[in-house]
Amino acid sequence: MASRPFIVGNWKMHGTRAMLSEARAIDRAAQRLMQVEIALAPPFTLIHPVRREAEQIGVGAQDCHPADGGAYTGDISAAMVADAGAGFVILGHSERRQGHGEKDKLVSEKATAALDAGLKLILCCGEPMEKRESGKAIDHVLRQLKASLPDTIEEPAERLTIAYEPIWAIGSGEAASIDDIVEMHTAIREFLVKTFGEEDGAAVRIIYGGSVNAENAAEIVGADEVDGALVGGASLSAESFMNIVLAVQEVIANRD
Ligand code: 13P
Repeated sequence: MASRPFIVGNWKMHGTRAMLSEARAIDRAAQRLMQVEIALAPPFTLIHPVRREAEQIGVGAQDCHPADGGAYTGDISAAMVADAGAGFVILGHSERRQGHGEKDKLVSEKATAALDAGLKLILCCGEPMEKRESGKAIDHVLRQLKASLPDTIEEPAERLTIAYEPIWAIGSGEAASIDDIVEMHTAIREFLVKTFGEEDGAAVRIIYGGSVNAENAAEIVGADEVDGALVGGASLSAESFMNIVLAVQEVIANRD
């Protein structure tokens, strides 16, 4: 576990302005839980309003286009989300890869654009069930990760977070086992050290996503090489999201 775990709520395509009260409540609670770094990635339409409400938590986007601007109807550039108040962007989520046919190369181009716009990255990777069942999960994830990274990245420890999200664990109510999470995060760590060197590679955060809830968060985030969590469904209410944060905070308290 990282010295200051990173817990991120990915609201996906949920939330209208009526949900701002949840963001406000999360932000207020976060002000009393400074040992955990907390962030929300609401839909594009709520980035600016959530940023205005929030004093403590980070605010990010769930995607961006690789181009600076132009004739791309319906798309949003990295500079636009930064201008709306985002400090980071989630890229390469399996729901983008599957639902929008995003390939590693496009994710990499988006990552480069996001860095150019001054955003930090949460880069997602994860295997489908067939790859796990055929013993190829680690190969699949490392290949995906390698191809999805931006061409160059300065200060990776500061600007890059990897989110390992096994596809079959997302929204299924069945998180990966602790052993499988630790095995994958350890393999990702080795890859990061090889790619960025001992010091930076050891400092890039690796967070886990896939059916994280208040019951399993302490064990998952307390595990070796797990630096936080990317939470979907359970981040949609302040109560369930903060129960996750409280569970993580308790692990920190017991460790100190
Ligand atoms: P759930 O927490 O709903 O499984 O979603 C995980 C996820 O995809 C976060 O990005």
